[in-house]
Amino acid sequence: MASEDALDRALAAARTYIASRTERPVWPRTPLADLRAAFDIPLPSDPVDPCVVVDELSRAADRGVVTTTGPRYFGFVTGGALPATVAAEWLTTAWDQNGALFVMSPAAAVAEDVAGQWLLDVLGLPRQSSVGFVTGCHMANFTALAAARHEVLRRAGWDVEAEGLHGAPPITVVVGDEVHVSAVAALRYLGFGTRHIVRVAADDQGRMRPDALAAALDRAAGSVIVCAQAGNVNTGAFDPFDAIADLAEKRGAWLHVDGAFGLWAGASETLRHLVRGVDRADSWATDAHKWLNVPYDSGLVFVAHPAAHRAAMSVAAAYLTRSADEPREPMDWVPESSRRARGFVVYAALRSLGRSGLADLVERCCRLARRFADRLREEPSIRILNDVVLNQVLVRVEPASGDADAATRAALKRVQEERVCWLGGTRWHGMEAMRISVSNWSTTDEDIDRSAESIIRAVRPLSAQSISP
Ligand SMILES: Cc1ncc(COP(=O)(O)O)c(C=O)c1O
Repeated sequence: MASEDALDRALAAARTYIASRTERPVWPRTPLADLRAAFDIPLPSDPVDPCVVVDELSRAADRGVVTTTGPRYFGFVTGGALPATVAAEWLTTAWDQNGALFVMSPAAAVAEDVAGQWLLDVLGLPRQSSVGFVTGCHMANFTALAAARHEVLRRAGWDVEAEGLHGAPPITVVVGDEVHVSAVAALRYLGFGTRHIVRVAADDQGRMRPDALAAALDRAAGSVIVCAQAGNVNTGAFDPFDAIADLAEKRGAWLHVDGAFGLWAGASETLRHLVRGVDRADSWATDAHKWLNVPYDSGLVFVAHPAAHRAAMSVAAAYLTRSADEPREPMDWVPESSRRARGFVVYAALRSLGRSGLADLVERCCRLARRFADRLREEPSIRILNDVVLNQVLVRVEPASGDADAATRAALKRVQEERVCWLGGTRWHGMEAMRISVSNWSTTDEDIDRSAESIIRAVRPLSAQSISP
């Protein structure tokens, strides 16, 4: 059977799926045992026709696929997949280019280079920065902090790539109390040890407090790396970058910004004030699979000091042939060598949106998040816990009597079971909350209203009865 036939089957299945996005249940209804049974067949001893494989895979997976690309999925921080990106992703797979080196794919290398320049432009970051295309913000944080580790130790006369941290000059790493776990994990991978990370106080919205940072920097020994944040994963709040950059600059610290989704505020004239001063940092991490609405996986790292970035990441081997014509080798800026050519899809996303489309996407999500919060606030037993400055909304159920944590958990379960929309739970300042992230390009006002009604339907009976933990 020709492989084109299997592609035809995949195209048909994909078209059916995409057409059903807005109305299929946001979370699957199939019980886990049935889903398992659909996949769990004996490994065939002989080859199976690709068409049969694709048909059966698509039937089996359909029972367990979460409609994360649909307009009423508000879980985690999840972008949908813009039409141009899905198509470009397919081409990327058909071309199957190894994005590591120019010699492996001139097209992948050039697309990545151009997309990188566009990104620096739209995000308002220094144009001489180097760019790496990684799997997600977790790895972007890792890459940026490896560059930070390299540079602060180089300035202290130490070659960390050669010597490691054995006997190295001291480094103090300072983070806000609301740092994302991925930045902490990255620091752990880099040998800093979580116990040695200095956490400074954050305010009620999760923003790092400059006075607490100043005090921590006064006490800090040796070289310093400061990790700030654009877009708190719960509240969407932004650290005050100008004040933080002033302090970091005075102390000679490397300033890193984890902006998994918040960095995209820089693409909108009306929201840019939220990231004022962010361009003064030394490195930045973000995701394309969140707000740029690129399919998984796609993360981005930017470093204002390309030499440090390259020194931390690049490897050499006789067989890894470097181009004589093209100075930028994609694998010099990431922890992997062989990897998917992610630049094509980021390029497609930026080109299909254009500057105005990107700004509109970001602004629309924020407007819809405010609409969501306003609709929910009309319900007396619902409290919105955060200032809705971006696309994140924290919802708590506070019945007239009974346990608010239990009521919030119960409401969330009902919402998830109704499947009109999907949101996850979290804890904020010791309180249970439902967590909404509006990050999808296709969400409309009507989707917000339908979802708010679903939440209110779940909450009303709980506010009438007394809930115990
Ligand atoms: C602030 C922040 N940093 C890092 C991450 C990790 O991103 P990823 O899961 O894409 O690696 C997230 C994910 O939500 C985030 O919100």
